[in-house]
Amino acid sequence: DSRPFVKIVEVGPRDGLQNEKTLIPAAVKISLIDQLADAGLSVVEATSFVSPKWVPQMGDAKQVMAGIHRSPNVSYPVLTPNAKGLEAAIAAGAKEVAIFGAASESFSQKNINCSIAESIQRFEDVAVRAQQAGLRVRGYVSCVVGCPYEGKINPQAVADVAGRLAALGCYEISLGDTIGVGRPSEIREMIATVAKTVPVEKLAIHCHDTYGQALANIYASLEAGIRVVDSSVAGLGGCPYAKGATGNVATEDVVYLLEGLGFRTGVDLPKLARIGQWISNELGRPTGSRVGRALLAK
Ligand code: HMG
Ligand code: MG
Repeated sequence: DSRPFVKIVEVGPRDGLQNEKTLIPAAVKISLIDQLADAGLSVVEATSFVSPKWVPQMGDAKQVMAGIHRSPNVSYPVLTPNAKGLEAAIAAGAKEVAIFGAASESFSQKNINCSIAESIQRFEDVAVRAQQAGLRVRGYVSCVVGCPYEGKINPQAVADVAGRLAALGCYEISLGDTIGVGRPSEIREMIATVAKTVPVEKLAIHCHDTYGQALANIYASLEAGIRVVDSSVAGLGGCPYAKGATGNVATEDVVYLLEGLGFRTGVDLPKLARIGQWISNELGRPTGSRVGRALLAK
């Protein structure tokens, strides 16, 4: 198969579920992660080692990590905001962690209770120790085009934080449109600015679909040279510290787009659509994936 590969980072079990009000049994999360890996996703973000007071839904991170069947071909990154989170992640057998910063001061305060500068100091500690322990570190920048508290974000602010994360050793930096407000023009300008600091080969795009622009933004990102896309099965999700933001773009929709553009994803789309249907049933709502709905109606 000579088609160019686009790596999909499935964030449903983490970004997709973290905002659910009712606690979901760990067994359901474990099954979701195992099914996603089985459908061909090579990266399945599994959970977060964050404060359970801040994000109660991720309070079972240890159980989830203990329950999943780890495929040797799949990476299961977990979010670690600080040293405490890293220690718990290592104890749970994580091989990859993600540190998550923001391009907006207000969002940084609301999400991780510290300034951008303080967060970089914390992340340095996490990144150094993680790499010493042989773990890979991924970085996130939130609010790359808009912030729920500050409005429009300057692309240079994104480039600055992305550059700091890259300097800490992050192998990949995911650019998050946390509240899904961006449009292709803004995404294009933002990527062009960031790529002057961090090579585009190291960048990923992470779109929420609040305004229905996610697929268009992903298309613009592909045109800008990005080959890593974050998405969430059934379009699950929302950020607890970004009121009104909807889920990530649905993985089913991204796979459909990419295959039509001639990219290889390694994902079994019919299988994925069934998983999207299954988890939506578990949560008692219809799937948020247009492609999933269409395929299942056939
Ligand atoms: P804090 O309150 O400033 O932390 O929270 P602290 O160090 O002062 O500790 C307070 C208490 O929390 C202590 O417990 C600590 O032990 C505990 P107490 O003594 O009161 O019983 N604690 C922890 N417990 C478990 N695991 C930990 C941990 N750390 C401290 N790691 C903190 C600071 C960063 C911990 C908090 O703000 C937090 O957990 N934030 C996480 C928020 C979050 O997960 N947000 C969602 C993910 S980000 C996102 O969704 C965006 C993304 O998808 C990209 C995009 O869309 O843009 C990635
Ligand atoms: Mg997100």
